[in-house]
Amino acid sequence: MHLAQAESLRPRYEAPLHLRKKELNAMPKETLSLVDNRTQTCYELPFFKDTLRAMDLRQIKTDPQDFGLMTYDPAFMNTASCQSAITFIDGDQGILRYRGYPIEQLAEKCTFLEVAYLILFGELPTAAQLAGWKNEITLHTMLHETTKKFLEGFLYGAHPMGMFISTVAALSTVYPEARKVNDAELRALQIRRLIGKVPTISAYTYRHSLGYPYVYPDNDLSYTENFMNMLWKMAEPKYRPNPVLARALDILFILHADHEQNCSTNVMRAVGSSLADPFVCVAAAAAALSGPLHGGANEEVLKMLDEIGSKDKVPAYVERVKAGQVRLMGFGHRVYKNYDPRAKIIKWAADQVFEVTGRNPKLEIALELERIALQDDYFIKRKLYPNVDFYSGIIYQALGFKPEMFTVLFAIPRTVGWLAQWEEMLLDPEQKIARPRQIYTGYELRDWLPIEKRAAPAA
Ligand SMILES: CC(C)(COP(=O)(O)OP(=O)(O)OC[C@H]1O[C@@H](n2cnc3c(N)ncnc32)[C@H](O)[C@@H]1OP(=O)(O)O)[C@@H](O)C(=O)NCCC(=O)NCCS
Repeated sequence: MHLAQAESLRPRYEAPLHLRKKELNAMPKETLSLVDNRTQTCYELPFFKDTLRAMDLRQIKTDPQDFGLMTYDPAFMNTASCQSAITFIDGDQGILRYRGYPIEQLAEKCTFLEVAYLILFGELPTAAQLAGWKNEITLHTMLHETTKKFLEGFLYGAHPMGMFISTVAALSTVYPEARKVNDAELRALQIRRLIGKVPTISAYTYRHSLGYPYVYPDNDLSYTENFMNMLWKMAEPKYRPNPVLARALDILFILHADHEQNCSTNVMRAVGSSLADPFVCVAAAAAALSGPLHGGANEEVLKMLDEIGSKDKVPAYVERVKAGQVRLMGFGHRVYKNYDPRAKIIKWAADQVFEVTGRNPKLEIALELERIALQDDYFIKRKLYPNVDFYSGIIYQALGFKPEMFTVLFAIPRTVGWLAQWEEMLLDPEQKIARPRQIYTGYELRDWLPIEKRAAPAA
């Protein structure tokens, strides 16, 4: 609470029930006037960057003993939890920018590591900075052999996302110094370690599920090419990635690198706010990502397309969606209410991939779903458009991934965004341990009963 604001929150005058226009005109323009009808008091709340500070409301009380007013906002529908200079989204206009640069330009002109540098440090790197950055990440691509053994302990059928989450968390035991989150140099080291190691962990989860031997990183290759090497190298002495597919994967990584305060980023910040180490924070964020309403959606899209089976069955499926029996996975977004700019770029990348791999037959079903949905009142009224997950799964499948790997492919680039947001949160003097309030709806005080006197609650 800023003192100046506290001052301005003191009740200014006893207001009539309805403010008259004349009195409203007398109010300073940069404040919001709020009348508490319980006490007939008018408060003047200062705007803060087009928001109200929720803590200012605490001054609004019925009497000195009253706790003060809170806000109630389940699922954070209308609450800014932080100030951030990383990613800008305008959901109505379909705009996404990292550090001010439009996603379309970054996807077209940059490599993933260049964008990672931008997201983390705020500026695009010079050639020398980029070379240094690549080298730093490359130094950290190997896993400790005990981590490899840890991965070997999973069942072959284990979900790759479960393996990813657990293994990233386990890194916390390999690098105990990571707990010193107030040490900037150590933070920088863990950031490089995490970005270097998440592709290695992901590739190992994939090879493990197939029973293939692990492939060690090849540091001659780019970030994405090396990931492909660790996934798909077999007996050949040197893996040579297809440049079109490597570029498509790089673009997909750029599109997924950050997305401001989404569910998993909010988890990253919340867990990080307790000063937990970054490995367990990323594991927690990845756990949030794994849910079907978040990063797990791309896997669900593929399952849905399989279930639909063919183009002619699309209208019947859309009817089921409208009847509320199923959700159209890969459609809808909390923020984008016009279109998701990432979906447009992904559609373009899909065409490049299909030139090499041949067209994924599921694309026909997806295009038909999109065509029908975009003309239908149900979807128009609710502003439901294809999101990033609608087409990404189709590309991933064309590249040779099983649907269970899709969310892991999302987690690799998002690790960059999580870490940038974590660092920003730690350096923000206004941030503290994240701790929301609640509206208690349970019993008032009641006395303990001995067990023989307790009645079973009605079923
Ligand atoms: C992303 C998502 C979770 C956003 O949810 P939200 O902002 O909380 O929106 P709501 O769930 O309140 O949905 C608003 C309305 O649209 C409907 N709706 C939202 N997404 C829908 C979908 N994919 N299919 C069908 N109806 C959908 C809801 O049923 C609701 O309708 P109602 O007003 O008649 O009750 C939601 O759109 C969704 O579940 N999409 C599918 C999963 C997905 O693709 N996730 C990846 C996001 S990148």
